[in-house]
Amino acid sequence: MSESVQDRLQSMHEAARLGGGEQRIAAQHGKGKLTARERVELLLDPGSFAEIGELVTHRSENFGLGAQRVPGDGVVTGTGTVDGRPVAVFSQDFTVFGGSLSEEHARKIARIMDLAMQVGIPMLGLNDSGGARIQEGVVSLAGYSKLFLRNVQASGVVPQLSAILGPCAGGAVYSPALTDFIFMVDGTSYMHITGPDVVKTVTHEEVTSEDLGGAQLHGSISGVSHFTCDDDAECLARMRRLLAFLPANNSEDPPRRSCEDPAERQDPLLDSIIPEASNQPYDMHRVIRAVVDDADFLEVQPDFARNILVGFARLGGRPVGLVANQPAVMAGVLDIDASEKAARFVRFCDAFNLPLVTLEDVPGFMPGTVQEHGGIIRRGAKLLYAYCEATVPKLTVITRKAYGGAYCVMSSKSTGGDWNVAWPSAQVAVMGAEGAAKVIFRREIAAAADPAAEERSKIEDYQQRFNNPFDAAERGFIDAVIQPGETRGRLIRALELLATKRASMPAKKHGSIPL
Ligand code: HXC
Repeated sequence: MSESVQDRLQSMHEAARLGGGEQRIAAQHGKGKLTARERVELLLDPGSFAEIGELVTHRSENFGLGAQRVPGDGVVTGTGTVDGRPVAVFSQDFTVFGGSLSEEHARKIARIMDLAMQVGIPMLGLNDSGGARIQEGVVSLAGYSKLFLRNVQASGVVPQLSAILGPCAGGAVYSPALTDFIFMVDGTSYMHITGPDVVKTVTHEEVTSEDLGGAQLHGSISGVSHFTCDDDAECLARMRRLLAFLPANNSEDPPRRSCEDPAERQDPLLDSIIPEASNQPYDMHRVIRAVVDDADFLEVQPDFARNILVGFARLGGRPVGLVANQPAVMAGVLDIDASEKAARFVRFCDAFNLPLVTLEDVPGFMPGTVQEHGGIIRRGAKLLYAYCEATVPKLTVITRKAYGGAYCVMSSKSTGGDWNVAWPSAQVAVMGAEGAAKVIFRREIAAAADPAAEERSKIEDYQQRFNNPFDAAERGFIDAVIQPGETRGRLIRALELLATKRASMPAKKHGSIPL
């Protein structure tokens, strides 16, 4: 190779590394953000990154673009490893045209997505972009469409994780929205379909970017994001942590680890955690931590719909998806947000072979006009659909209340639960005893000499019959009544047994989930 070719290659490498130049890199750092390449280095195992398309440039001549070609065209793409396991990655470079998406920028990302699907490895997207490259017009829009198509093709085939590490505006939000998990950084990432200026013009609202599409908003109110992180480094570390629970693709099992935490360990907390009064709250996080390996629970959407908990943990070294009602928030009732949050999580777990462990203490669906007008029927049905459709091992532990429709929804035996057990404190009933007595004994109560005493006695009758797990156990809807302390050991043994479960739904193109 001639010297001039070597020199040329060297200067192209340098130009690619420098992106939009020292000044813009300093500006990026000044905002507390890392550069695209620094992020890739932190995300992947040291030295594992193999870049693809480093020398690609855009083709547009519009608006003087012909004189502004930067090798890589504003996105770093390639493969590497996380904890020794292969992944595909793209990382948008805000220093090059604000990370905006050109035709070639999109082609590079599409190339790496195709590769991820072909070889069956997770696709990690680090987004930091002003959206479609304005100078390029429709070709940049077509570039987004190309990515949307691939996001959907890859859905349920390989895990797709999106970090939002800067602005993410316009249609650009929809590529991350089609992926499985979104990570945002407090104070530097934004997702909105239009910025504050357009909002003001159209709806006359005055709103900041933070309130319109910041990490706190999406982590707690809209439910768009799954993880809120303090800075880029924490965000990338969390992506690595999540990957450790996931298989590389839908035809693999999740990675099993050796486990030092004894399978039969019994935590005495479990035997005393259920309060005397059935309307008293307790924190289901404590139950989860007492049961899972090393008290290690990676909670997904911890600040959104806090009346239900979802996340990943291990039992005997096997990754599982945990869904748990949270009696400490709104008594653990199922409302629209909780149903949608859990439904999405259940479907993800089912797609990627993660057994579902459900901890149940639920008083029912949330009544009232707000919920009915909001479509609790249609939207609550998503969770029912998701559980019924799931063919992974489904294990359910009823800790206390399992009332009404919510009993049916939360992975009940008749919806295909594989292993359904209850603690002695369980109450499996159509509704709470007070409400039930008032409905079915209304006439007797009204006709009694002392209606209040009659009502109390009827409530007690109902409690006697249904405020326990026995009727359900006698009918076989509960496989066993277990002591709370045994929960961990019994779950681990059941998971072991169910590891070879094979089940399928009737052949179809796809179901029609009530969206
Ligand atoms: C080309 C862009 C760009 C874009 C930013 N830049 N966005 N270049 N196309 N979309 C360039 C800027 O010109 C600037 O170049 C550099 O990137 C940094 O931008 P600044 O504005 O200086 O940065 P900042 O103040 O941090 O603001 C970032 C920003 C803002 C909020 C993203 O740039 C912005 O509002 N950009 C436009 C956003 C937008 O409307 N995009 C189109 C959305 S529609 P220099 O040379 O000065 O460094 C869309 C359609 C998708 O995306 C459709 C899919 C269906």
